[in-house]
Amino acid sequence: MLGMPLRRRLRLLVATVTAALLALLATGTASAIQPGGITDEARLMNELFWIVTIAGLIVFGLVGAALVYAIIRYRRQNDELPPQFHGGGKIEAAMVGVPVIIVIGLFTISMITLVQIDDKAEDEALTIDVTGFQFSWQFAYNLNDLGTNTDPNAEGTIAVIGTPANDPILYMPVDEPVEFLLKSNDVIHSFYVKDFLYKLDLIPGRVNSFTVTARETGDFSAQCAELCGTNHALMRFTVRVVERDEFDAWVAAEAARQLGDGALVSTSGTQGD
Ligand code: CUA
Repeated sequence: MLGMPLRRRLRLLVATVTAALLALLATGTASAIQPGGITDEARLMNELFWIVTIAGLIVFGLVGAALVYAIIRYRRQNDELPPQFHGGGKIEAAMVGVPVIIVIGLFTISMITLVQIDDKAEDEALTIDVTGFQFSWQFAYNLNDLGTNTDPNAEGTIAVIGTPANDPILYMPVDEPVEFLLKSNDVIHSFYVKDFLYKLDLIPGRVNSFTVTARETGDFSAQCAELCGTNHALMRFTVRVVERDEFDAWVAAEAARQLGDGALVSTSGTQGD
């Protein structure tokens, strides 16, 4: 490069700067498209997203730079035929070897992330029964399956049932594993919470499940993500992540309202021996 005339070096510089700007633009766009997510699982997925994206950008940058360099450096100088040769063992081995190593690396990282996300060895997880129907949602909670603060003797189920005009709210506690059991009795719906960076179909005749641990409180909008009929667009709902106390208070209030005051079997301290 040092032997090149000034004009050629300038061109190479312009090409490099352009490539760098394009890479920056792509990164900015990606971060706008890809939110961080509020669950442990979402954060793992987000990390994987960035590893793959950055690896892709590096390959793009190297290939683009090599291409631009070759185009400028080896463009026709005169009418003389350049030296001709056939094959190139080292280059061909690198052309096959490097991509294979990259693919194996990305595959390994993806598998590790997938296994971590699908890790469901959490019997103590609070379970929420989610039923999608045309055109809203039902979220049901068994009083004896409420996670860390469960009274195993409690009986009954409380449910939140939405309507197309009235989006239901799904309550869940923060910092605890929550398992979703997804069911449908009519057509296929899809349970999509953008801030989980995750969606899963509700399929008639089977139960799909996944577990997340939310790390942020607040309201997060969610919706059905599978075209399921005329009012598919009205199948919205809100995920409300709250502190444990607030969750318990909500459960107690709903149990009293839906099942009557005697519904919740007395909590610890009054059960004697
Ligand atoms: Cu349910 Cu779309």
